[in-house]
Amino acid sequence: MSDKATLEINGQKHEFPLITGTENEVAIDIKALRSVTGGVTTIDPGYKNTGSCVSAITFLDGEKGILRYRGYSIEELAEKADFLEVAYLLIFGELPTQEQLDKFHSDIKKHSVVDDDVKKILDAFPKSAHPMGVLSSLTSALTAFNPSSVNVDSEEEMYNAIVRILGKFPILVAWTMRKKMGLPLDYGSSSLGYVENILQMMFKRPDENYEQNPILVNALDKLLILHADHEQNCSTSTVRIVGSSHAGLFASLSAGISALWGPLHGGANQAVIEMLEAIKEDGGDTKKYMGKAKDKEDPFRLMGFGHRVYKNFDPRARIIKKAADDVLGDLGVEDPILDIAKGLEKEALEDDYFVKRKLYPNVDFYSGIIYRSMNIPVEMFTVMFALGRLPGWIAQWREMRLNKEPIGRPRQVYTGETLRSFKGINER
Ligand code: SDX
Repeated sequence: MSDKATLEINGQKHEFPLITGTENEVAIDIKALRSVTGGVTTIDPGYKNTGSCVSAITFLDGEKGILRYRGYSIEELAEKADFLEVAYLLIFGELPTQEQLDKFHSDIKKHSVVDDDVKKILDAFPKSAHPMGVLSSLTSALTAFNPSSVNVDSEEEMYNAIVRILGKFPILVAWTMRKKMGLPLDYGSSSLGYVENILQMMFKRPDENYEQNPILVNALDKLLILHADHEQNCSTSTVRIVGSSHAGLFASLSAGISALWGPLHGGANQAVIEMLEAIKEDGGDTKKYMGKAKDKEDPFRLMGFGHRVYKNFDPRARIIKKAADDVLGDLGVEDPILDIAKGLEKEALEDDYFVKRKLYPNVDFYSGIIYRSMNIPVEMFTVMFALGRLPGWIAQWREMRLNKEPIGRPRQVYTGETLRSFKGINER
């Protein structure tokens, strides 16, 4: 295969190098495009065909339904690793030794406290505030309480900012949920594992000791691993572009949380449950909703279906679907919307509209059913997605900074008015 691409513009031929990744993905390197063509650029709404960076963190193959973190398959990691191990792997590139993992967790624990004044910010929110808006605000507010984590240039400074946010973010998640549930804000215990501590901070009632349930610990650990990274998705690209201006890590993460909130992205896990509930209320009439999803006049979409990259099954959806059966079975929970979800999936996978467009269940289609069985409020589902995605965002931000990438600043094609003279108000 040639290592060059040739572009002919106005009879002039221009050659551009091809770059090939370790999984044989090929890209045209157009860094010189504007300079050699006198200003010609490209246009690609939604960046469907445009790579923003080279990255060594996560590999997806949308046609084959493959997802790997640093070369390890998502199936193996979900089965054999725990979330903190996967966080270390994503951020530093290798699975940790026991000693490295212990030090990582110990460094995180040193920062598992949030300044009490942050509670005053939380108190200022109405109970009706969406948890994603609260979480994004509190994450950005952490900058004010941790100024040393803003201008981080050395790897050591970055490490300190990373263990700080890994220690404090789960507290913000728990406080956001407890605020919504009217429970007093609580800290966990440094004697607990990372995920056990999250569950205790979220669910411990003030009047009782919190009993760890291994089913919930394993379910949450697996869900967090499955959400941990997904290469250059909308929120990760947001974290990278905000970080490319050398804004601090916490500010970049806050922007990523806002991007994830959208119903076309991480907000879909909440929208899926609301859709399934509506179908249940409607007597389980899945055909009506399938019809709505296919009707171009109807803005309704089958939430939890479709993906920009996966044109085959999202491997995470497969794992979560099985985990949903296992967790609900272990908890002895009967949830009719699981059957509705499975019915909807079956119908869609046999329907030409979905088959032709290669629309399959994505990570958000079944995840909410597990969160619901864990008594997590539906408005907290996307917050749980953010909790899982945190190490991925951190890893991608760190890679962008260590690679000394330039500030992100896309071009455009202007289609507005050409030059015209100002007219006084009486002339308009
Ligand atoms: C996540 O990028 C990532 O990696 C994201 C993510 C991650 O881990 O970070 O995987 C997490 O965000 C998963 C996606 C969650 N969102 C949803 O479930 C919302 C429902 N899905 C869609 O809105 C849509 O599928 C997207 C946003 C996910 C992808 O949109 P694209 O790639 O821009 O595709 P498109 O909108 O151009 O759709 C192509 C066609 C269109 O029909 P035609 O114009 O060709 O006739 O498929 C149709 C769309 O109308 N279509 C759907 C549909 N999704 C696409 N029709 C009905 N229901 C849907 N869900």
